[in-house]
Amino acid sequence: MSVKALKGFKDIVPGEVETWQFIEQTARDIFRRFDFAEIKVPILEKTKLFIRSIGETTDIVEKEMYTFADRNGSSLTMRPEGTAPVLRAYIENGLHAKKAVQKLYTIGPMFRHERPQKGRLRQFHQMSVEVLGSDLPRVDAEIMAMAWLILKELGLTASLEINSLGCKKCRPGFNAALLDFLNQTEDLCDDCLRRRETNPLRVLDCKSANCQKQYENAPSILDHLCDGCQDHFKAVEEGLEVLAVPYKVNSFMVRGLDYYTRTTFELVTDAIGAQSAIGAGGRYDGLVKQLGGPDVPGIGFAMGIERLVLLLDQQEDRPKPVPDLFVVALGESAQKKGFAITHAARQAGLTVTMDHQDRSLKNQMKQAGRAAASFALIIGEDELANGQAVLRNMDNREQTDVAIVDDVKAWAGEIVSKIG
Ligand code: HAM
Repeated sequence: MSVKALKGFKDIVPGEVETWQFIEQTARDIFRRFDFAEIKVPILEKTKLFIRSIGETTDIVEKEMYTFADRNGSSLTMRPEGTAPVLRAYIENGLHAKKAVQKLYTIGPMFRHERPQKGRLRQFHQMSVEVLGSDLPRVDAEIMAMAWLILKELGLTASLEINSLGCKKCRPGFNAALLDFLNQTEDLCDDCLRRRETNPLRVLDCKSANCQKQYENAPSILDHLCDGCQDHFKAVEEGLEVLAVPYKVNSFMVRGLDYYTRTTFELVTDAIGAQSAIGAGGRYDGLVKQLGGPDVPGIGFAMGIERLVLLLDQQEDRPKPVPDLFVVALGESAQKKGFAITHAARQAGLTVTMDHQDRSLKNQMKQAGRAAASFALIIGEDELANGQAVLRNMDNREQTDVAIVDDVKAWAGEIVSKIG
């Protein structure tokens, strides 16, 4: 019996991987333009890092983490998200002392033991950014504009929803008002009844239609913000307006992680089914300190690559990468020449394919066609004898000769100049 991949874990095979590369390259280019630096952090961390940051009563910590005892008995967790590991690395490597404002991004796999469905995997991939060291509302607007630009350059649209979750000062007042409301609301689902006791804010995220209907009358956090949080939120809105980023205020948006303060946001779409959030983030002032670092504010977001792929797959086919050149060589001497020119042409920057099995001309030309190569370089016995290989344009079938010379670098240069 063959061994299969785990449920919720997926291979990304040729044919699919090109879309992934397009997404990552587009994002990396934008990160560079916004002056963000890449950071790579481990997949495995001590479990307490996530409990302390994401929050003990969140779904992620309560039921979704891949946690196990190491051989020496210490509890380890496969990262369910990237913010906590990046913050740990920021503190541990003293990055705060190197730059007052650190702008970091990371791309990689995350792990959550959720029920797999379209757009929801157990191993999924995020592109995430964190800005550490600034509490200015313009930074909030700037990173939302960056997320929006990534979507735009990918050719996608989504709607940006924003909210403020207040701060240590004003959140308790809202929590009390919400609890009051919940205590007067009958007919809550079991999950909400439980959350009412442990983490009341999270009830607003309930998926039950009945609960949601009742929450239409719930108090709004935006009515409970302190002056500081109100000013901050207003300035974020102004920033988005200056940058002409369209957004909508959604005062019922709460996030699945407990570390957020003030600004939170989500990029949502109705084009890929139930898993509508293609990116999300927010501010987490106080979290770096809570993890044992200096008292610096922070904000970030993450985009789910699988969900971006689903959106892109709905579009018309983008051109697939094809070889520039297929080297067709017949007979041992020609194969040897072909072998050398293949390597030289690759060094000169071309994408080159060659079949080393010395099959018939017909067979090799068929392979070149199947690979959709732009050109074929044909070296047979006649070509060897008269010192001229044939360069064939596979689209219009035009052929030109290219002199076979011992200096393969010069030969490759000649081919590059003819291919244009
Ligand atoms: P999150 O909302 O948990 O936030 O995840 C961010 C994004 O990751 C989601 O919007 C979604 O696109 C994708 N995602 C999450 N879970 C899955 C899954 N099971 N399968 C496929 N895609 C998924 C965070 O993780 C925060 N660390 C974001 C952040 C960074 N906040 C501040 N900085």
